[in-house]
Amino acid sequence: MPNTIRPLVAGNWKMHGLAHSLSELALIAQGSEQHKHCIDTLICPPATLLAAASNQSAGTCLAIGAQDCSSEPYGAYTGDISAAMVADSGARAVIVGHSERRQGRSETDADVLRKSQRVLEAGLQAIICIGETESEMLEGRTESVLLRQLKDSIPANGPCSSLVIAYEPVWAIGTGRTPTIEAIAGLHGFIRGYLVSAFGRDGAAVRILYGGSVKVDNAAEIACVDHVNGALVGGASLKSEDFLGILKAFGSIH
Ligand code: 13P
Repeated sequence: MPNTIRPLVAGNWKMHGLAHSLSELALIAQGSEQHKHCIDTLICPPATLLAAASNQSAGTCLAIGAQDCSSEPYGAYTGDISAAMVADSGARAVIVGHSERRQGRSETDADVLRKSQRVLEAGLQAIICIGETESEMLEGRTESVLLRQLKDSIPANGPCSSLVIAYEPVWAIGTGRTPTIEAIAGLHGFIRGYLVSAFGRDGAAVRILYGGSVKVDNAAEIACVDHVNGALVGGASLKSEDFLGILKAFGSIH
């Protein structure tokens, strides 16, 4: 099913963004309007801005998401934020299993699975990140790593309509390096094959985003690749001009 799926272009602000950044978000919401007929747009600001960003974006085509949540539904977990709290803030999605948490915070596939389950229980979209490290890639283990992450991080019962997979090669994040277009095509096809084998027809409709050094300059080329159904953008989502340029590139294809 090459590129018949409505794309999602999502921004991950990581640990960037203060109250004054809401003005940048307003520009993104405004600029997204002209692409709303063909693209879904999401920004994941830091947790401190979730409620304000959701309020500000209400009634626009820009959705707001969180960057992480707890694997527990509630309880004595000082400093953690539950999926229900994210939903209560007005946000609609949560990124889970980002490599900065898998590697930087030692999160396992089992942790990511539990977080994904909490996200789905809260009625939110789970954007489940997978991706190989540079050494895994050099050792030729990319597909086996992705397969393990797919099998062990995605809730077996879906529902697929609330799932998004983000393929982010760890070595491409924040480095300005990207896999070749052929490699992206091959790996997105591989991920699609797994989703169809695990979920049948529903798996054929799950969006697979590419993430890792997506910029205005390379977005159009990436957007054309089969089974690339959007992007997860880090650095280039912080400035409305850059992010809207990426939206435009996806819009020109779809
Ligand atoms: P960059 O776009 O800055 O490489 O970050 C990608 C990313 O980690 C998005 O989640």
